[in-house]
Amino acid sequence: MKILVTRQIPERFIDELKEAAEVVMHDDTLQPMPRDKFIEESRDAGVVITMMSDKVDREYLDACENLKAVINLAVGFDNIDVRYANENNITVCNTPDVLTETTAELAFTLMLVTARRIVEAAELVQKGEWQGWEPYMMAGKDVAGKSVGIFGMGSIGTAFARRCKAFGMDIMYNTRSRHEDAERELGARHVDFSELLQSDYVVCTAPLTEETKEIFNKDAFNRMKGDAIFINIGRGGHVVEEDLLAAVQAGEIAAAGLDVLRQEPIQDDHPFLDEKRIVVLPHIGSATVETRDAMIQLCVDNAKQIMKGEEPKTPVKV
Ligand code: DGY
Repeated sequence: MKILVTRQIPERFIDELKEAAEVVMHDDTLQPMPRDKFIEESRDAGVVITMMSDKVDREYLDACENLKAVINLAVGFDNIDVRYANENNITVCNTPDVLTETTAELAFTLMLVTARRIVEAAELVQKGEWQGWEPYMMAGKDVAGKSVGIFGMGSIGTAFARRCKAFGMDIMYNTRSRHEDAERELGARHVDFSELLQSDYVVCTAPLTEETKEIFNKDAFNRMKGDAIFINIGRGGHVVEEDLLAAVQAGEIAAAGLDVLRQEPIQDDHPFLDEKRIVVLPHIGSATVETRDAMIQLCVDNAKQIMKGEEPKTPVKV
């Protein structure tokens, strides 16, 4: 049974996988496997290690008769039709826990960077436009002591909230069910979506589902405070990007920091690129060497267990 890896990963992981099976790796670190090659190479694969950019839909799953497992190198799995995979006895795994602190750290960094206009300020210096100290030059907005509304209080949301607590923030969160541990540990308050939108910082850390798709739209941005900052490290699909741009340009909210976009990578002519008050990062939530090593190792461990006929460490349950 073959293991397909859809992006180039360090050789030591491939060597480990080779102890369990024949391995085929798409030899490119940057470009995803073209769709037809992805399907073709998966036809005789038992296990596929996928990236977020690989669409594992019905068409793909129907074409792959030998597939036992899809192992996604991400905690999110909105690129995979998990229900249909499970109906076809295909296990789906993801990489939870190992990326929690790193991703929360990026969310907090993005909040600070956006609030303190760090990208604009560094650009000003780089372009040689810094002419001297001025009382309100690059004046941003405080983070410490402000209110934060966290949409999605899973492990990343909770780890982010811990950082907010250290900054003395008033923490609110919105999820389907209450998170009593976070309430006890962090003094976080469960609020409805409308109240969450009244926070100084509205931060989306949620996974993308049919229910949360485009939840940050014209109506949501209208209801936010004029000096609010919106941060998204969940998925781009949560946001109607045209509405966000219009809200920032109209001054309905102050700024936004985004690690995720509806379409990645960003298109050259995307209007966010001309808007200084919108900071866009290239989906680097979990991108530290330590964490990427740990995520890949978890994928390898899952693959080896599946090849042995054992329960994998981190199957996705829907
Ligand atoms: C994931 O793994 O789903 C996150 O988007 C990491 O950045």
